[in-house]
Amino acid sequence: MAKDGEKDGWKEFIWNPRTREFLGRTASSWGLIILFYVVFYIFLAGLFALTMYVMLQTLDDHKPTWQDRLSTPGMVIRPKADETFEIAYSIKDTESWDMYAQTLDKFLSPYNNSLQTQKNDECTPDQYFLQEDSGDVKNNPKRSCQFNRTMLEECSGINDRYYGYQEGKPCIIIKLNRVIGMLPGKDGQAPYVSCAAKRYKVGKNEWREDSDKIGELMYFPPNGTFNLMYYPYYGKKAQVNYSQPLVAVKFLNITTNQEVNIECRIFANNIPVGSERDKYAGRVSFKLRINTVST
Ligand SMILES: *[C@@H]1O[C@H](CO)[C@@H](O)[C@H](O)[C@H]1NC(C)=O
Ligand SMILES: *[C@@H]1O[C@H](CO)[C@@H](O)[C@H](O)[C@H]1NC(C)=O
Ligand SMILES: *[C@@H]1O[C@H](CO)[C@@H](O)[C@H](O)[C@H]1NC(C)=O
Ligand SMILES: *[C@@H]1O[C@H](CO)[C@@H](O)[C@H](O)[C@H]1NC(C)=O
Ligand SMILES: *[C@@H]1O[C@H](CO)[C@@H](O)[C@H](O)[C@H]1NC(C)=O
Repeated sequence: MAKDGEKDGWKEFIWNPRTREFLGRTASSWGLIILFYVVFYIFLAGLFALTMYVMLQTLDDHKPTWQDRLSTPGMVIRPKADETFEIAYSIKDTESWDMYAQTLDKFLSPYNNSLQTQKNDECTPDQYFLQEDSGDVKNNPKRSCQFNRTMLEECSGINDRYYGYQEGKPCIIIKLNRVIGMLPGKDGQAPYVSCAAKRYKVGKNEWREDSDKIGELMYFPPNGTFNLMYYPYYGKKAQVNYSQPLVAVKFLNITTNQEVNIECRIFANNIPVGSERDKYAGRVSFKLRINTVST
């Protein structure tokens, strides 16, 4: 009997026909609760939308509102080596280096003189190309400077279609990652890239350096400089046609049949290299191995 009573109690709680209550509340009470929550959530959504709207109004499409303090940009090489950062091939095996040449072809095609002439300006070298906004008046779109493929001379792939890979004198192309607003030189001194043998660990407290194997290097443009006219960079939206300047390094007499560890660094009188915060900033390292004997 007690059980039945309990069951009835439950039934009554769900729907009580006497008082016409559902789960202990009348329809009008439920209606009021639902109405309250609907109004409450509409109010919250409205508040959120209003906040977002006000926030977005303060953003500038062309410039990041918040940017880390002038950091040292990373450097990348082309042809991109795999995760091990190793470029290895055999001179005799065309297929082993043809892909490197193709990668460079593809990478450099936006730098074709014809395209650069079409898209970009001939700027005055050795000085920043400043195009500041005057107050609220945006100076957009901003122009960009030509970086002609032919400026890479022997590493442009125009006269030497295989970038020296076929004769064991390969070209590596280096670019500096974009940093909006960076002015990488002081006193008219352009930043430049320099490559050398990298010190690497071979055992506990034992280091080695391949400086005797790296051979002579040649840089294009001369001295491996990134001309100041390519800076500052104003961002993708403001400077639609921007072409990052490049530096090519040609290895003229690198020791073959051995792995050579190389590190390239950017030298600029106001970019600190390898800060505590990011020891890979401003430098890139890779291995180069050119085989002349069939393996
Ligand atoms: C750039 O020039 C190279 C060689 O001169 C040519 O093969 C390539 O198709 C050109 N690329 C573009 C996008 O015009
Ligand atoms: C780029 O190449 C074009 C055509 O060859 C030439 O007219 C122009 O002066 C070059 N620009 C630079 C900055 O060297
Ligand atoms: C970007 O390049 C296109 C041609 O590809 C040109 O018509 C346009 O004027 C250029 N824009 C700027 C801002 O340099
Ligand atoms: C390259 O560097 C040398 C020595 O620092 C300097 O004399 C020469 O003018 C530089 N060349 C160019 C094209 O900047
Ligand atoms: C190339 O390097 C080797 C040592 O690795 C050296 O004996 C030779 O003289 C160098 N050749 C040139 C042309 O510099």
